[in-house]
Amino acid sequence: MIELAPSILSADFARLADEVTLAVEGGATLLHVDVMDGHFVPNITIGPPVVASLRKATELPLDVHLMIENPDLYVPAFADAGADWISVHQEATRHLNRSLDLVRKHGCQVGVVINPATPVQTLGEVLDMVDFVLVMSVNPGFGGQKFIPGSVEKIRKLVTMRNAKGVDFRIEVDGGIALDTVGDVVRAGAEILVAGNAVFGRGNPKENAEKLLKAAHEATLQKV
Ligand code: DX5
Ligand code: ZN
Repeated sequence: MIELAPSILSADFARLADEVTLAVEGGATLLHVDVMDGHFVPNITIGPPVVASLRKATELPLDVHLMIENPDLYVPAFADAGADWISVHQEATRHLNRSLDLVRKHGCQVGVVINPATPVQTLGEVLDMVDFVLVMSVNPGFGGQKFIPGSVEKIRKLVTMRNAKGVDFRIEVDGGIALDTVGDVVRAGAEILVAGNAVFGRGNPKENAEKLLKAAHEATLQKV
């Protein structure tokens, strides 16, 4: 099932609830929340208090993408604040198995994220532990960056690994997803589409979300 997860990073934070409502009206079924610490990535965003406010403002599951060092220190606070899904970067933790287990113990859907330069093979030993794999199709840190085309092949490889191992995880993609790139990632096997700039950047978030989902659904029909 294709799902659209708008990233609030490109929304107007002073009107966050209204922006989210519009995206939901356009078909968003998940809300992507980008957490950055100024160390793992060269930008700083939000922490648990904003997640707690969003939890009150929407019924949508909150997909919290942790771009932070020492994620284990903060998983409990984000889970308590109301995160439903939590993903940690393969590159941000020394003991990936332990970090993923910690997310599971806090009752959240477990995700692992890889940067553009990280091969999918590095996830071989944890694919049976996760509910989803998040493939970064830009270097994390900012919204509105250009899609890195090599990400499409990484999605295909993940589909192959999933079949070979007989495991069951969903594939999410994040970065530069817009009308010109969504078809390729969906045809490759991505099911959860994060989009910041394409939803909140300009125009009406409702219409933007509708158009993106329409393009994604059309692409599923072209899958071989
Ligand atoms: C990038 C973030 C993304 C970002 C996507 O570090 O993880 O979620 O908001 O933004 P767009 O869709 O504008 O590339
Ligand atoms: Zn993200």
